[in-house]
Amino acid sequence: MTHAELVFVPIPAIGHLISMVEMAKLLVDRDPRLSVTVLIMKLPFDADVDSYTNSLATSVAATRIRFVHLPCENIGTEILGSFLTDFIESNKPHVKRAVAELVDSASSTQQLAGFVLDMVCTTMIDLADELGVPSYVFFTSSAAFLGMMLHLQLLQDEHHVNITEFKDSASELDFPSFTNLLPAKVLPSVVLTKESVRPFLEHAKRMRATKGIIVNTFDELEPHAVRSLAGLGAPAVYPVGPILSLNGETKEKDIDGHRGDDIMEWLDKQPPSSVVFLCFGSRGWFGEDQVKQMACALERSGHRFLWSLRRPPLSKGQVEIPSDYADPAEVLPEGFLHRTASVGKVIGWAPQAAVLAHRAIGGFVSHCGWNSTLESLWFGVRVATWPLRAEQQFNAFELVVELGLATEIKMDYRRDFRMESGILTADEIEGGIRKLMEEAGSESWKKVKEVSEKSRKALTEGGSSYLSLGRLIDDILNNMPLI
Ligand SMILES: *[C@@H]1O[C@H](CO)[C@@H](O)[C@H](O)[C@H]1NC(C)=O
Ligand SMILES: *[C@@H]1O[C@H](CO)[C@@H](O)[C@H](O)[C@H]1NC(C)=O
Repeated sequence: MTHAELVFVPIPAIGHLISMVEMAKLLVDRDPRLSVTVLIMKLPFDADVDSYTNSLATSVAATRIRFVHLPCENIGTEILGSFLTDFIESNKPHVKRAVAELVDSASSTQQLAGFVLDMVCTTMIDLADELGVPSYVFFTSSAAFLGMMLHLQLLQDEHHVNITEFKDSASELDFPSFTNLLPAKVLPSVVLTKESVRPFLEHAKRMRATKGIIVNTFDELEPHAVRSLAGLGAPAVYPVGPILSLNGETKEKDIDGHRGDDIMEWLDKQPPSSVVFLCFGSRGWFGEDQVKQMACALERSGHRFLWSLRRPPLSKGQVEIPSDYADPAEVLPEGFLHRTASVGKVIGWAPQAAVLAHRAIGGFVSHCGWNSTLESLWFGVRVATWPLRAEQQFNAFELVVELGLATEIKMDYRRDFRMESGILTADEIEGGIRKLMEEAGSESWKKVKEVSEKSRKALTEGGSSYLSLGRLIDDILNNMPLI
């Protein structure tokens, strides 16, 4: 029996990394002929990633998944948008060396079957080409977002549209992967910024030349978007999601030395579907003025709440890593904690999946990171959107308008790439929270429950993502170079 070895190259951002490791587990669990080597690039900062990768060696006991840590590249550039590109470029020689060692040490029945690259590591396709093996891309966002990238790249390169001119534009765009018109104001900052738009869309161009794109979504969630991809020039597309790391939660909890037991105990005491949960992802934080408006909105809404309130990063750098307040009272309105003590709980870091799984949760105010979106759908919790960065505005639009699965606090709030929305007022926030919490039983609420069931079905034997994973494995084995 020939063993097919895949080389995985994730970027060291916790969401991407965890998803790719979960993907590797799915592959090796499904087919005994496959094994995976995950190459881990090292950032000069980010303790979360470090503790996660350090825990992998012991937690991922699968003998057919190996982790290779690449040497640290200390690149100090702070140039907008180019940090990641430079970082990945600087890791190319390390990847090349690691793969060469892998090939040298392989037994006669082991064969390199190809690279599975993070969606922003497409420059590594060169290395696969040099070795004469196929490349696949692992896409950690939605099928609609993949469609957007492919479409914008065509507009730019074939129709000579200057994409950055959509910045501050009120126009609505006709995108093949949506049935609705897309407001330009929900395009991600990365394509509205002239330094970053070309390198970013270059990924779309290069993805076209791979053997396939593995997408963390499922057909029943985005049927229109998935079908639109072939017409946009995508290679084979494999929707294999939702890939979540639900067991990983408990591991992660240990990072900060607390496991969130007090949070779960508090939730146990709340009535079913009564609590609104506010959480903005691993990079989510707000300044003090905004925090005060949020507090005011929560208090006035009268709803029970669990609020993950993070402290702004202490230093402004390329990667913003918030921390927890020793005492959140220092940024909250006078007396807030006291007045809301019987209905609310303010916490720092949150065990998000465990909270979403709890029956007390009735709604989720979310930044709409794709990973969190998939988690909330999995648990059937309806979202009110409050995007911050990356492609979150786009996700919010897809959820609210295209799919009817969420309500909005705001769809076009943003705070990245030097673009800052103003502060959302307590009135706006309160309105959004009321709408979220007081529409139990509505059409969209029912739809969320249905999608939740479909997401689980997709992964079980015979489900759409299960079948798609099978097709991927067949193709990986068929595409292997003959030796
Ligand atoms: C998704 O994000 C949540 C919250 O940041 C994190 O706890 C979880 O591990 C992530 N899961 C994946 C698969 O990336
Ligand atoms: C695209 O438009 C922006 C904003 O109008 C402008 O600053 C930039 O120079 C243009 N880029 C090109 C390549 O024409």
